Amino acid sequence: MALVAPSLLAADFGRLFEQIALVENASADWLHFDIMDGHFVPNLSYGADLVRQMRPISKLFFDVHLMVEEPLNFLPMFENCGADQITVHYEASADLSAVVKWLKARGIKVGISLKPQTSADVLAPYMDDIDNILIMTVEPGFGGQKFMADMLPKIRRARELIGNRNITLEVDGGINAETAALCTANGANVLVAGSAVFKAENPAQIIQQLQLSGER
Ligand code: DX5
Ligand code: ZN
Repeated sequence: MALVAPSLLAADFGRLFEQIALVENASADWLHFDIMDGHFVPNLSYGADLVRQMRPISKLFFDVHLMVEEPLNFLPMFENCGADQITVHYEASADLSAVVKWLKARGIKVGISLKPQTSADVLAPYMDDIDNILIMTVEPGFGGQKFMADMLPKIRRARELIGNRNITLEVDGGINAETAALCTANGANVLVAGSAVFKAENPAQIIQQLQLSGER
């Protein structure tokens, strides 16, 4: 079974509580929050307060994806926001060790994300410090883009680097039933899906389908 992380970016913001309850009742595994600063990516979304306000209404694992330049400057805003995991971008951070230290000191799981042009091998020095690897399968910034199939070898390489460590391998961008199967076949075990879930007529069915795409 793959874990499924619906991305709130594609939800109807006027009915956020309802939308979260919908995916929670449909047995989603994680809830994915895309935080954008308008610099690291050419788009704005929402900030730590949204995460904090959703915490009391959901028991889901809160998976926060920070698409911000120099995450160390933003992390204090995320103190006690209820995030279970915070994933920062390798390309955005001058001092990843400091980020790891900050998160670990607060019992928050640590993830590193890679943009499409960044090689998986940059992760090698951090493998003993992290809980999650997030491979972007589109250029970060917007939902609803087309999956980049040329990311599959990178997913496979990340899986090799993980070896027998307890690190999740998450993919994000253009994930649907078809592309999910390609990702899990190459070693991914967490699937972020925005449009595929929230724009679907039957989100519960898609969530289940994505979870089963881990079965072969
Ligand atoms: C893009 C975000 C994604 C986005 C995925 O920068 O990181 O999480 O919401 O959306 P879909 O699944 O629609 O490609
Ligand atoms: Zn994301």
